[in-house]
Amino acid sequence: MQTFDLPAAVPVAFGPGRLDRLGTLTTERLGAERRLLLVADPFAATSGLAERLIENLEEAGHKAALFSDVVSDPREGHVDACVDVARDFGADAIVALGGGSAMDVGKLAAAIVGTKESSAAYALATKPFPGNGVPVIAIPTTSGTGAEMTGTSVFSLGDGTKVWAWGPELYPKLALLDPEITASLPAPLTAATGVDALVHAIESMTNRNAHPLNDPPAMRAIGLVRRWLPQAVADGGDLEARGQVQIAACLAGAAIAVNGCAVAHGLGHALGTVGHVHHGRAVGLSLRVALEGNVAATPERHALVAEAFGIERKGRSDAALAAALPEAYDAFLREVGLEISLSGDGLSGEDAERLAAACDTAENQPMFEVTCRAFDRAEMERLCHAMLTAA
Ligand SMILES: [Fe+2]
Repeated sequence: MQTFDLPAAVPVAFGPGRLDRLGTLTTERLGAERRLLLVADPFAATSGLAERLIENLEEAGHKAALFSDVVSDPREGHVDACVDVARDFGADAIVALGGGSAMDVGKLAAAIVGTKESSAAYALATKPFPGNGVPVIAIPTTSGTGAEMTGTSVFSLGDGTKVWAWGPELYPKLALLDPEITASLPAPLTAATGVDALVHAIESMTNRNAHPLNDPPAMRAIGLVRRWLPQAVADGGDLEARGQVQIAACLAGAAIAVNGCAVAHGLGHALGTVGHVHHGRAVGLSLRVALEGNVAATPERHALVAEAFGIERKGRSDAALAAALPEAYDAFLREVGLEISLSGDGLSGEDAERLAAACDTAENQPMFEVTCRAFDRAEMERLCHAMLTAA
């Protein structure tokens, strides 16, 4: 029988207006008069959000400084620059505010601020963190990556290779979720990030590490995305819908923190490297082409996913119920407006071999290996071709 560890979850403070409690929550969790480096992406830094948080922290008696040199798909240089600023400021905690990128940079910088080594030294978890890092409070501004709940940071090396760092030291000490922050997120980004959360939940439910102890958060996340994401896309100001999708992303993040992802993230990261496609859309399209084979490999696990996704059993066997999932998933991607074709991204079937080669790398292989079925190079190329020619 499978052995299993369920790590302690990250504490969560959720609700509209919670942002304005950052200062007091910091005092409660980390103590008084802290020196906090706010790591924010350019949107958060220029929209007044970062300013508002710094003011709030200072009102509560803390000192705060801003680091905003964070880009989408951050590189090792961004993390190392953040470490330098944190060290110069004497930061004893980091507040990571933004989409996945700002949280990835903030978490990794916090874990290595006490060492002289570069972030690249910690890529692919080849060595443990030094253990003298500073705590992180994570505040997501999108609802998708779930990075506020995980011990993972994704970043790119200097040559553009997308890699990840992993370790218990990367778990935030608190996740602060305020649906009001996500209200201004444009519809395409709302859809892509929400699909990322859905894929996290499905992959954690169906990969080789899946375990019943970890099913509840993933299954609930699947149901919440199915129920609320179309509404959040249609009406960004609907705070109920925004909040429910935010909770879904948080639950799915907690699920992958335990079980990890699978083929859609291996293929999706490769698509991100080759075609610079947004992560959420990339993994959404990747699962779309991989799902049929996955369902055939483990129909009983995918029947659970199908039920969570709202597909009625109607007396059907697990295999028959699970077989309905790929079509329902495809219809859902189209309902939330995810662009299926990659032709507008400058990609075509001719790129299949190049994309398959990008899958077959040390950083992406682990996600194929943990998938519920085996992949050889021919199957990878078939999936890549199907994705690149989809319409
Ligand atoms: Fe993801």
